[in-house]
Amino acid sequence: MIRAFDTDDALTISRLISNNLIHVNSRDYPPHIISSMVAEFTPEYVTTLSKVRQMFVALAGGKVVGTASLDEDTIYTVFVDKDHHGSGIGRLLIEHIESIARESGVPRLQLPSSLTAVRFYEKLGYYAVDSAYSEQMGHSIIMAKDIIPMDERKIITAQDMIPTHKSDFERVEFLKKQSLERIRPILPELLVWLQDINWPIASEIEDLLVKFQAELIPHIQKVLHTKDGGWKYFLLHGLINRLPDPVLLELKSDLHRMQDYPTKDEQYEELEDILEELLARIR
Ligand SMILES: CC(C)(COP(=O)(O)OP(=O)(O)OC[C@H]1O[C@@H](n2cnc3c(N)ncnc32)[C@H](O)[C@@H]1OP(=O)(O)O)[C@@H](O)C(=O)NCCC(=O)NCCS
Repeated sequence: MIRAFDTDDALTISRLISNNLIHVNSRDYPPHIISSMVAEFTPEYVTTLSKVRQMFVALAGGKVVGTASLDEDTIYTVFVDKDHHGSGIGRLLIEHIESIARESGVPRLQLPSSLTAVRFYEKLGYYAVDSAYSEQMGHSIIMAKDIIPMDERKIITAQDMIPTHKSDFERVEFLKKQSLERIRPILPELLVWLQDINWPIASEIEDLLVKFQAELIPHIQKVLHTKDGGWKYFLLHGLINRLPDPVLLELKSDLHRMQDYPTKDEQYEELEDILEELLARIR
């Protein structure tokens, strides 16, 4: 059972967190991080947190055996009594928080996961979207999950449509149903997903982008001015190669520059053959 945190739970929660830090998280974090976290999670601090976040506790046999908190769209402080790990309590806590967030219209949740808990969150459908480091807490992995499907959302901004991970087919499917006009503002962000054509969504993003033809040119040129040889390689072999000759012509001087004066990253990718092929089309 899950219920709201009560001030009387503070000592139990503080101990439960410290126990985990010392005996479980210590596998992934150095002693000074563990000590500073243990020092931080006093009963008083837990009580203070409960006033600025929605804090919940899980009960088993009438005893408090876990906790998790929600602050708008972010989940914090998820800990399960270490003797109860693996019995579904963590899942219950997260599912409870997801339903509370969904009810208040939060479309997407995020959380800073400890290195220790990444596999747990992956099991529950969260994806790593970033990483963070702080002196006090060490490394964490920022993870996120859509809890309201794109098709069911009332408001969707251009930003919301940008894929969030390499297998974000939900957003790809959503993008496919949008007009070119709606997608236009996020062309640079979509190009980022062509940095490696082996990423699961990359080829479908390429299919979408190729429809923009000449509009792509300034965005492609920006990539050609980066030092990311791999990205250029995949663009030349994919998107650029798929542009019709009159559009490709607009890249002529860029292609010549790469052929005659390749930068280090371009030399490394051995782009001579593809450049030769492309330039032959527009001679
Ligand atoms: C991470 C934590 C909250 C998970 O709670 P839990 O109650 O043990 O997890 P559950 O039993 O609900 O597990 C749910 C699923 O995740 C899986 N899972 C849990 N921990 C896992 C791990 N470390 N590695 C791989 N899978 C894991 C379970 O096998 C289960 O999968 P299943 O549904 O297919 O059986 C708990 O282990 C914990 O308190 N860890 C230490 C503190 C910590 O790092 N908290 C996170 C701070 S961000």
